[in-house]
Amino acid sequence: MSLSREQMLVEMGISPIWVRRDVPAAAAAEATGHSEESTALPASASVEEAVPISPPPAAPSAMPAGEVGSADWPTLARMVAACRACPLGEGRRQAVLGVGDTSPDYLFIGEGPGAEEDAKGEPFVGQAGKLLDNMLAALDIARGNRVYIANAVKCRPPGNRTPEAPEMAACRPFLERQVALLKPKVIVLLGKAAVHSVLHEDKSLASMRGQRFEYAGIPVVVTYHPAYLLRNLPDKAKAWEDLLFARRILRERAAPELPF
Ligand code: URA
Repeated sequence: MSLSREQMLVEMGISPIWVRRDVPAAAAAEATGHSEESTALPASASVEEAVPISPPPAAPSAMPAGEVGSADWPTLARMVAACRACPLGEGRRQAVLGVGDTSPDYLFIGEGPGAEEDAKGEPFVGQAGKLLDNMLAALDIARGNRVYIANAVKCRPPGNRTPEAPEMAACRPFLERQVALLKPKVIVLLGKAAVHSVLHEDKSLASMRGQRFEYAGIPVVVTYHPAYLLRNLPDKAKAWEDLLFARRILRERAAPELPF
């Protein structure tokens, strides 16, 4: 099935698009840190050039990196469930590893479980998750079908706050192992925390959108977190542009000789 742009915008809950230009997006910034000002995708956006990122700092992790680095899925799930490498392990009901197709085209990475995810053991099951599902549907994909969904941290931060840098660093070996096992064709980072965790960048999302980054040889694109989009509806159209950008990269990888 292939939808027209208008149909896709409707699927994502965007249409009709009505943008008040007198209200800066930053004014609607939300408390959880999804407070990106935004700009349209740069016209120069290219799927060709990956933007180099400096190597990550060594993660001050209490995890036995060697063991995580060779874990299969059941072992990884056990290690995540038993993890006490950071204080988030104390307050969680359960760790939330991730969900979806384990040979995916796309890997979406969010921030960390909220209350509903902590209760259900699955990422993005609350309101933000519903929007994410709509975004995926607009791309003709769904959790379990060509996409895997994970988070920068596997345990719920108290009060649904943004995870702190040491918490993301402690959890990074798990995320790295997930990426190694999944071998996604494109990674989509949802929000600043995921960008910090994977790319070690703290620039604004607005300045990073529309560029192709790379992680472990895999193309990476960044976009807004669904929770931010719920509060900044006009930016949904920009998220849609970002998803199209990710799809273009995927298609170019599949058939580099075809024009997309
Ligand atoms: N927000 C996230 O970043 N991840 C979830 O799993 C839920 C909400």
